[in-house]
Amino acid sequence: MKIGIIGTGAIGGTIAKKMAEAGHQVKINNASDIDQLNARAAELGVTAAQQKDVVKDVDVIILSLPTIAIPTLPKDLFADVPENVIVVDTSNYYPFRDADIEEIKNGKVESVWVSEQLGRPVVKAFNNLLAETLASGGKKPGAEDRIAMAVAGDDAEAKKVIAALVNDAGYDAVDSGNLSESWRHQPGTPAYCTELDAAELKQALADGVKENAPILRDKAIVELSARSSYPSHPDVVKFNRALFEKKPKTK
Ligand SMILES: NC(=O)c1ccc[n+]([C@@H]2O[C@H](COP(=O)([O-])OP(=O)(O)OC[C@H]3O[C@@H](n4cnc5c(N)ncnc54)[C@H](OP(=O)(O)O)[C@@H]3O)[C@@H](O)[C@H]2O)c1
Repeated sequence: MKIGIIGTGAIGGTIAKKMAEAGHQVKINNASDIDQLNARAAELGVTAAQQKDVVKDVDVIILSLPTIAIPTLPKDLFADVPENVIVVDTSNYYPFRDADIEEIKNGKVESVWVSEQLGRPVVKAFNNLLAETLASGGKKPGAEDRIAMAVAGDDAEAKKVIAALVNDAGYDAVDSGNLSESWRHQPGTPAYCTELDAAELKQALADGVKENAPILRDKAIVELSARSSYPSHPDVVKFNRALFEKKPKTK
């Protein structure tokens, strides 16, 4: 597939590298100057593109940006992008980083807000695994304890396409419902960054409590930031699992 990615940080960069390794044609754009963009593209084994070009002649566009950066994208960015091009949103809203976005704070589902900002349907994916998990936790299809990733959206065919990319990245895809249900894998839910297999993720998605998610999201940030040193990746996953009375990982 031809994939354009805007945002090449911990998540977007890893997706770019993995998609190129899986044989997809990948071009990228970020907020840096052209020399830095070229250097990042070379590092990831993909092609650099200007922002107006990264969305041209592609099958899938992946936005991997801080939520607050979404409204800064040019209003006409998608004007000439055909409707059948799938737009993926990997973002997670964190007030400490993204400042106040009143609608999300008042309960609007993050990727619904993103979709409204863009004026396009989006698929929410690649958001419920930590960057370290995404980079190094992948396994071949059928492998024991393969970690699963949630994919939400209103277009079943688009979700199938993205599920195949998730599989290429090394993860089982779990359909988490319509975009309005994607709060089930936002921060503060048992499905968020807890490294579950497909069966466990389905259960965790069902166990989420919408009203509790922002409270637990903020509690997690306060508790992790208060530590004298930032915990290791396994400790963060353990911490995330321990936020829930009904443990998401039962094995
Ligand atoms: N880190 C995680 O564990 C994780 C896990 C799942 C989902 N997410 C979510 O995925 C999103 C990306 O996360 P991340 O950790 O990859 O963030 P990150 O490392 O901070 O990278 C953000 C990327 O966005 C680019 N960017 C920012 N504003 C831009 C703009 N206006 N136009 C074009 N590019 C812009 C930055 O460009 P430069 O490189 O030029 O600065 C950078 O490449 C966030 O919403 C995050 O919450 C993160």
